Amino acid sequence: MSDFAKLKDELKDKLSKVQNSGDLDIIKTEIFGKSGLINSEFKKLGTLSPDEKKKQASEINIAKQELTKIFNDKIAKLADIEINEAVKKEKVDVTLPEKDFRIGKIHPVSQVIDEISSIFSEIGFSVEEGPDVETEYYNFTALNTPENHPAKDMHDTFYIEENMKTLLRTHTSPVQVRTMLKGKPPFKIIAPGRTYRSDSDQTHTPMFHQLEGLHIDKNITMGHLKGCLNYFIKEFFEVDKIKMRFRPSHFPFTEPSAEVDIGYKIENNKIIIGEGDKWLEILGCGMVHPNVLKNSKVDPNKYQGFAFGIGIDRLAMLKYGINDLRSFFECDYRWLNYYGFDPLDVPTSYRGLSK
Ligand code: DAH
Repeated sequence: MSDFAKLKDELKDKLSKVQNSGDLDIIKTEIFGKSGLINSEFKKLGTLSPDEKKKQASEINIAKQELTKIFNDKIAKLADIEINEAVKKEKVDVTLPEKDFRIGKIHPVSQVIDEISSIFSEIGFSVEEGPDVETEYYNFTALNTPENHPAKDMHDTFYIEENMKTLLRTHTSPVQVRTMLKGKPPFKIIAPGRTYRSDSDQTHTPMFHQLEGLHIDKNITMGHLKGCLNYFIKEFFEVDKIKMRFRPSHFPFTEPSAEVDIGYKIENNKIIIGEGDKWLEILGCGMVHPNVLKNSKVDPNKYQGFAFGIGIDRLAMLKYGINDLRSFFECDYRWLNYYGFDPLDVPTSYRGLSK
């Protein structure tokens, strides 16, 4: 047997015994590498006579084919083994007891945003979002707010740049303009989100949450606004009957404007909505000012509609009996555990919003 044939048999034997792809790589170099068996054998051909060369070359080629086949079979076999081992390692024992994954709680603000979104989406509103860092233009100018309006004061607004061109939005109303500019009427949207004002006491925090509503179409009136809010408040507080009062007010972006109060009473330290003779303001609203429509590229001679802005945190405090707004943002795990909601209970009107 020639040296070549001997070496070839040795390598064949080694190949058959390989157990993992690392060892297989080493043998691959020994056989097919630059100075491996096949190449070294081809290099030796130069010294042979033409007849011998032909014979030897054909022998090397046959050996190469044979080794390639064995090699490829081995790769496939090892891949199979390795996959099976990985599957075995990753196997989940479904008979083990389940993990208690209900450790986290949903924050009351998130819960209330979900509840409100669910109520409005059932009557055809879709959800929009806008940036927290807003421009002076969208936050004030486009909303028909005069240059000298008190809300623009440094004491109320957090400006980001000294030139007062960018700021942390003071309300969600700029989303009205942004939404109208990117689409065509009709519009029927709500926009929940964070808002910022330089203020802090039991009922004010520098960051708080609002929900904007906007409905623009050809014949939308104050009557629709009233009906919509009446429906919303009943659904939200999960009561059949409410007392609601519209008080004339002023906002630069609506004409006429109103603030809405709901009637309540306190019995055994609990707030009861829909009864009694106390009033609590919960939102601002009105018919969108023609200047706002113009700034939003909507023709005020063809379209009109209403808008409203609700304080989300305030609704959460009312509905869930929380009396200090600051506690919402203290990240106290015990507080969250007490006031928070089960993550698996997604609020829907038909299933019950909060129960
Ligand atoms: N943006 C007002 C605020 O923050 C609330 C508001 C009032 C929003 C009237 C509206 C509206 O859309 O029509 O106080």
